[in-house]
Amino acid sequence: MRPKVRKVVIPAAGLGTRFLPATKSMPKEMLCVVDKPIIQYAVEEARASGIEHVIIVTGRSKSSMEDHFDVSYELEATLRERGKLDLVREARKVSDLASVSYVRQKEPLGLGHAVLAARDLVGNEPFAVMLPDDLIDAAGVPALRQMIDVFESTGDPVIALLKVAMEEISAYGVIRGDRDAKDARVHVLKELVEKPKREDAPSDLAIIGRYILTPDIFEDLVATTRDKSGEIQLTNGLRALVSRRRLLGYEFEGTRYDAGQKLGFLKATVDLALKRDDLGPALRAHIQSLGLR
Ligand code: G1P
Repeated sequence: MRPKVRKVVIPAAGLGTRFLPATKSMPKEMLCVVDKPIIQYAVEEARASGIEHVIIVTGRSKSSMEDHFDVSYELEATLRERGKLDLVREARKVSDLASVSYVRQKEPLGLGHAVLAARDLVGNEPFAVMLPDDLIDAAGVPALRQMIDVFESTGDPVIALLKVAMEEISAYGVIRGDRDAKDARVHVLKELVEKPKREDAPSDLAIIGRYILTPDIFEDLVATTRDKSGEIQLTNGLRALVSRRRLLGYEFEGTRYDAGQKLGFLKATVDLALKRDDLGPALRAHIQSLGLR
């Protein structure tokens, strides 16, 4: 039987310069979309996908993330004194969400380097990687679960894919692959390029921040040389992997927001608030009152 995917690595060590000054003293993963930090969306998706253990790779100021996923005795005591038991339950839901470990990425040397920092905590088993900037709202099965299902039925590592406009392709890792005859969402990957020039992009299929990997990737990452900005890219580690074993891409079902940039962050905020019973109707009325055309 194939080992289960029990662990997820969530890199959260970026500087978040796009959100300065908000991120001057707080990690960008703690920025709130509606009323939850971005990283909580990732952890909730992981839990809903059957993941048991979350490994967060942090840089500086990790304490706010640790506090967020920990029990807050002071807050709970104050809320209890005030008889606000529903809010106590709300706060507890977050700390009960998952077992979380933290590991420090000592230098900001890229995504591949961040994943490598989690090697000891992952051990010798398949694992997921989620980039919290890629917030995915799936109507039914969570995006990560869709990918675990592909891994469980094939045993091959799987990375998330999304068609993007060619004007934006240079912001992504891009793939070339063959579409699977049986499942049009599945691609057998032949080539991966990190942030190519538009004219060099092998397709319009971009890599999105959800990966199901096998532990052999760690050796590839150790052997991956730094790119011209001095970083170890996960995409470049995967290039080595693809020359050795089958690697799949999967066009997941769901809406993806790039919450790592301001416009994507705002779109996620508006869309997710519109979906909520407590906020949706009033927000919709407000937007209509703006008389936009
Ligand atoms: C990272 C990956 C890239 C991928 C992107 C998805 O880039 O390196 O391959 O397409 O995430 O969001 P970043 O956006 O962190 O520069």
